[in-house]
Amino acid sequence: MATPRKLYIKTYGCQMNVYDSERMAEAMNGYERTEDPAEADMILLNTCHIREKAAEKVYSELGRLKPLKTAKPDLKIGVAGCVAQAEGEEIMARQPLVDLVVGPQSYHRLPQLEAKVAKGEKALDTDFPLKDKFEDLKRRPKAKRGPTAFLTVQEGCDKFCSFCVVPYTRGAEVSRPADRILQEARDLVEAGVREITLLGQNVNAYHGHDGGLAGLIRALSEVDGLDRIRFTTSHPNDMDDALIAAHGDCEKLMPYLHLPVQAGSDRVLKAMNRKHTAESYVRLIERLRAARPDLALSGDFIVGFPGETEEDFEATLRLVEEVRYASAFSFKYSPRPGTPAAERADVDEDVKSERLQRLQALLSAQQSAAQEAMVGKEVGVLFEKPGRMPGQMVGKSDHLMAVHAEAPQHLAGQIARVRITGAAPHSLAGELV
Ligand code: 5AD
Ligand code: SF4
Repeated sequence: MATPRKLYIKTYGCQMNVYDSERMAEAMNGYERTEDPAEADMILLNTCHIREKAAEKVYSELGRLKPLKTAKPDLKIGVAGCVAQAEGEEIMARQPLVDLVVGPQSYHRLPQLEAKVAKGEKALDTDFPLKDKFEDLKRRPKAKRGPTAFLTVQEGCDKFCSFCVVPYTRGAEVSRPADRILQEARDLVEAGVREITLLGQNVNAYHGHDGGLAGLIRALSEVDGLDRIRFTTSHPNDMDDALIAAHGDCEKLMPYLHLPVQAGSDRVLKAMNRKHTAESYVRLIERLRAARPDLALSGDFIVGFPGETEEDFEATLRLVEEVRYASAFSFKYSPRPGTPAAERADVDEDVKSERLQRLQALLSAQQSAAQEAMVGKEVGVLFEKPGRMPGQMVGKSDHLMAVHAEAPQHLAGQIARVRITGAAPHSLAGELV
């Protein structure tokens, strides 16, 4: 057999891109993945378009790759992901070093595209085929892997929040059939996986199972050897009764939920086309906490959305105070070409920065409080790898907090009971029970 060529993939953005990068690597026959771009025969940038900064990074990275291509003219460079979808043709025209552009719905055609660039041609594919892009890919290899894995079950979004490019870059909502997901989950478990995070841009709108996402989670619960299930990212309006109930009684579903609200002012929520109010979100959180009192909540926030006043922003702070988050992501609004909000007058940059600082101060204080509240409690920890200190292992708790504890290395890939003895803002210390 010919020696495999080397593939280097740089992943930007969300967890769905992390999953896609794995699947792309598996699709590329005759290549093996390398962590060193200098030894690569092909470099793929798996890009993110969600905010302007994310997209700019791609152009600067392409600039940095130029010397590599000069030194090794056979090196092929490709752009995948959401920037490829949105600006693929322009990238190809502007950056002669790019050989290949592939949108996120066309990864199953990578082998054909690769064959084309191997002949010295350029290849571009940014179609939105109607079928599951993973269907044509091989089964996942069963080679031993780490204890946690992502599994994409749904892609695309029909919600059209007025700030967001996802409905344009990832297309309409598509759900993968449940039987294929179950097969993939069993293959992952056989490869050593104990925890699966189900991914989708709108994962709780999943409809590939009669019982929706809750039905899929219950079916996955039957998979022997799979101990933990998580899912992300969700929209409040798709949080149905069955999913709330699953948080209460499905043992393998972990007590952590990422449920973005974006803003706390109804005026802003309406302008964002979120189709829910601050009040309805808070009531939903109450119902979730009634089902699972220790649920750790996480969220996304945008500050400085067009038209956001100081009063609107204070409503966001009030909502955060009422909900109490265990962790959160917050961003300054970034106008995205082609989205409705990009047509509206932008809030002053200094005002955005100041609001972001205030929001992040509040969210960090809440995160520290959530970490502190764990001290003295006993939690399940799935150990992943050795810690920084000799004799230590690190892993994630049920509530998705990083925990380190003195533990033997053979516990890697195992879930152990740990008593939490100390808390820092981003990690917990504990001892085996
Ligand atoms: N500007 C700033 N943040 C955005 N997000 C999505 N689009 C934008 C934008 N144009 C944030 C939202 C979303 C997260 C993934 O990224 O908070 O939930
Ligand atoms: Fe974007 Fe809104 Fe869809 Fe989330 S729900 S992907 S923020 S359009």
